[in-house]
Amino acid sequence: MGVLDILQAKKTGLPEHYRQLSELEMVSRIQAIKEQLGAQLYLPGHHYQKDEIIQFADDTGDSLKLAQLSAENEKAEYIVFCGVHFMAETADILSSDNQIVVLPDMRAGCSMADMADIHQTEKAWEMLQGTFGDTIIPLTYVNSTASIKSFVGKNGGATVTSSNAKAMVEWALTKKERILFLPDQHLGRNTAYDLGVPLEQMAVWDPISNILECDGPIEEVRVILWKGHCSVHEKFTMENIKQVRKEMPDVTVLVHPECTFDVVQASDINGSTKKIIDTIENAPAGSSWAIGTEMNLVNRLIQTHPDKNIVSLNPNMCPCLTMNRIDLPHLLWALDSIVEGEVINQIKVDKETADLAKIALERMLNKSI
Ligand code: 13P
Ligand code: SF4
Repeated sequence: MGVLDILQAKKTGLPEHYRQLSELEMVSRIQAIKEQLGAQLYLPGHHYQKDEIIQFADDTGDSLKLAQLSAENEKAEYIVFCGVHFMAETADILSSDNQIVVLPDMRAGCSMADMADIHQTEKAWEMLQGTFGDTIIPLTYVNSTASIKSFVGKNGGATVTSSNAKAMVEWALTKKERILFLPDQHLGRNTAYDLGVPLEQMAVWDPISNILECDGPIEEVRVILWKGHCSVHEKFTMENIKQVRKEMPDVTVLVHPECTFDVVQASDINGSTKKIIDTIENAPAGSSWAIGTEMNLVNRLIQTHPDKNIVSLNPNMCPCLTMNRIDLPHLLWALDSIVEGEVINQIKVDKETADLAKIALERMLNKSI
């Protein structure tokens, strides 16, 4: 390893020489390794991944579909997960012990998942139990660490994704009087409101100050929202909606439920990445759409539906920087390491955490088709 290699490795782990390769060379080497490994290798890609990665994906999907596919795939020895850290952890939890999950770039995290750590969660749980007694069931968005999923599994709760949040919140409200919903306050609020829970019956738990923010009577709180958010989806604003409706009077505004409550209320349709894709696929030619979700997906929809008039709801486009860390050099590096028998960036959740997290995930998967 040269000096440059060492300096680069300190930042990303990626040996410098991968950055010197042409796109053509990386593409042909990745193709060759995929052919060589065949069914030994499985490469799932989240819809927010760049096109340069999606072209190699064996399957593309939203977080629910990729979790289901990881659970089903028993053949592949290596799962090279093109998404973010919590998704690779989920794949490791759901796959069998002899399967190896790799994340091409360890810096591909999720800022929302980082907004709830296990110590904050245990503290919050203790304080909330002190206030409400044994009346709370925890639900966590899959965009959370394996430790949080494990905590939720241990305490009778389940995971949710944006595709099944409604069904899961409905289920949870039949189990206990109130829900603690982690870590995305917006998905929790939008979903509970859709199910008829008024805003006055929702409170927000601030994990920094350990304070429950609540406008209505505390004993009537049914949904406790963790004060976390997605910095990508929070960039879509009411001003964007006003502007696009002015510029495109026939537009339909379609947003992801990680957007704020006001934006979701002012939109025409909201739903998971799968729902966004299906809606556009089924839309008539000539229809106009403003989409509020991650940039790579919006761009792909624009390119694959030239017969429809599609724009990003925020004209500056909103990329998920961590999703975008997975690129050709990192993918090639990960695949080379497999071929060379020295696997890099393996994601391995310890057994105790994984067993409990699996309970939370399976409660969800058993309810999702
Ligand atoms: P879905 O894939 O569940 O729509 O979630 C979007 C997301 O933010 C992934 O991080
Ligand atoms: Fe996390 Fe938001 Fe990026 Fe999804 S889009 S991975 S929630 S930061």
